[in-house]
Amino acid sequence: MSSYLVLARKYRPKQFSDIVGQQSVVRTLVNAIQLKRTHQAYVFSGSRGIGKTSIARIFSKALRCPNVIERDGLLVSCDACSDCHEIASGTSVNVLEIDGASNNGVENVREIRENAKFLPSSGQYKIYIIDEVHMLSNQAFNALLKTLEEPPEHVVFIFATTESHKIPETILGRCQRFDFKRVTVAQIVERVTQVLNSEKIEFEPAALSLIARAAEGSMRDALSILDQVISFSGMRVSAIAVRDSIGLIGTELVLSLLTAVLERNAVPALSTLQTAFNQGVDLRALLKALIEMTHALLLLKAGVSEPETPFNSDEIASLKRLLDRRELEEIELIFQVYHHGLDLLSRAPQPKLVFDMLVIKTALAEALVRTGGGGEGKATESPRKNPVTEPRPVQQAGPATVSPAAVPSAPPPTAPIQSSAPTGLGFDFRASLSTPAPKVEPSTAVRSPVLAGGKTWEGMIQFATAARPVLGILLESVVEWTLPNGPEDKFRLGFRMKDRTKADQLQQKAMKDQFLLLTENYLGFKAQPEVFFSEIQSESLAERAEREDREQQENTMKRILSHEVVQEATSLFGARLTQVEVVKRNS
Ligand SMILES: Nc1ncnc2c1ncn2[C@@H]1O[C@H](COP(=O)(O)OP(=O)(O)OP(=O)(O)O)[C@@H](O)[C@H]1O
Ligand SMILES: [Mg+2]
Ligand SMILES: [Zn+2]
Repeated sequence: MSSYLVLARKYRPKQFSDIVGQQSVVRTLVNAIQLKRTHQAYVFSGSRGIGKTSIARIFSKALRCPNVIERDGLLVSCDACSDCHEIASGTSVNVLEIDGASNNGVENVREIRENAKFLPSSGQYKIYIIDEVHMLSNQAFNALLKTLEEPPEHVVFIFATTESHKIPETILGRCQRFDFKRVTVAQIVERVTQVLNSEKIEFEPAALSLIARAAEGSMRDALSILDQVISFSGMRVSAIAVRDSIGLIGTELVLSLLTAVLERNAVPALSTLQTAFNQGVDLRALLKALIEMTHALLLLKAGVSEPETPFNSDEIASLKRLLDRRELEEIELIFQVYHHGLDLLSRAPQPKLVFDMLVIKTALAEALVRTGGGGEGKATESPRKNPVTEPRPVQQAGPATVSPAAVPSAPPPTAPIQSSAPTGLGFDFRASLSTPAPKVEPSTAVRSPVLAGGKTWEGMIQFATAARPVLGILLESVVEWTLPNGPEDKFRLGFRMKDRTKADQLQQKAMKDQFLLLTENYLGFKAQPEVFFSEIQSESLAERAEREDREQQENTMKRILSHEVVQEATSLFGARLTQVEVVKRNS
């Protein structure tokens, strides 16, 4: 394998039938041609490597190839005529591919306008594919708008973009818009299987799902990863080769770590982590995998029977066996801790220490739900589903509001750490676990949700954090907002560009439903969220929480490092210092 993009280029789809996913886009375009009702301007938007350019070319061929036929409801171009050849190689004078990023000035658009006036050299259509169109300058957009107001009849524009929100509304309003979807794991596996079969390369099915997951929805990335694996491992694509070549984390490792955490076995969890660390596992990747698995668990716990997750059916079955270990609220908290932790971990000088803390925190999450923080009101209000047989005396930290069912059946091995941690290390696990700690009394908020007057954004976030931590996390990233005056108003939420995955998440159905419920409970009416991108660059609540968390963590680190026992231990054991510290204090 010589070059990195070999497979992605070699397997660029040539016909609509080669396209994986994007069915509604394909369907609509084919129908338009068949009914002779094509638009004059299209916007193809969506993330990288999911078929925008490929479909633009296939659509152009279908419009221009004189020998186009219909097969299985799709249009098939001949791929033999000069039109087909030139379009595929990007050399056609009637199908012009223009890079909007490097031709973003007003003079470039004027040139296109001039050129567009002339009839195609043959055939009916002249097609302009403008890639990265969001890069055009304001003036260039204005010039383009003039063309779109009265386009010559033979012209079709296709604007491809990964950032459609940067295109002015005036332009979007004159285009038919297609939002391309990320390619699913199953679709990637399907396509990669085809590619390997035609390359006559053997593979293990497990290897393909690893590749598909690592590609994060991009078909191009999947094929690039495949290239990498093949060049690494030769003619057999095995799961181990995939892991080794791209540093993926084994699911068994993540599963055993999460199992120990859910079962409140901090010590085995820490030693699993230590072993992984010793083997050179990338901690950030491991934490990401842990987040992914906790998320899957959360979906299962919430009653989604077949969640769209990267895990195979065996893994899902293993996760289902873990469902009764924790309540939904606890799993949400664990998710929240890992989610916040990712940023901490990335910046920490000693990421392993941060990871240890995260493991300890989450192994102790049970204590949080029992003794304070967001879960308390809920727990008292709605008795747990899994009554536990052997109640255990409440520890000193627990007030009398203990929900009987929240008490675990066996004394958790982590109890000593919990009791010594706040005093010994000046670091309160429970307090930091609920970051940001709701300032309103959480139980009150949960029990009597409709507050009279005085509604604020901060109040709403606290309310969300107490009731639905994941939603809370998303809302903490909002930097600009407008509270609605009534149900007919939209609740406008401004995210910064860099938080757009959060913006996307908020717009997914399940999250949107949670948001509606939240507004209904907090404001007294359902307010539809309207997400926009804000120019404001200030620190979001989430970042503030992260910074404070980090500062606290650094403080803790300083205290740990300056402790005489640790100093001694460091010189004796080197990297094992956190564990020495924790074990020492509790023995
Ligand atoms: N939906 C798809 N079906 C099959 N193959 C695809 C699909 N999307 C992408 N590919 C593969 O990825 C390569 C790149 O796809 P394409 O250029 O169409 O992506 P794009 O969406 O235009 O990406 P970019 O935003 O980076 O320009 C193709 O050559 C093809 O191998
Ligand atoms: Mg493209
Ligand atoms: Zn042709």
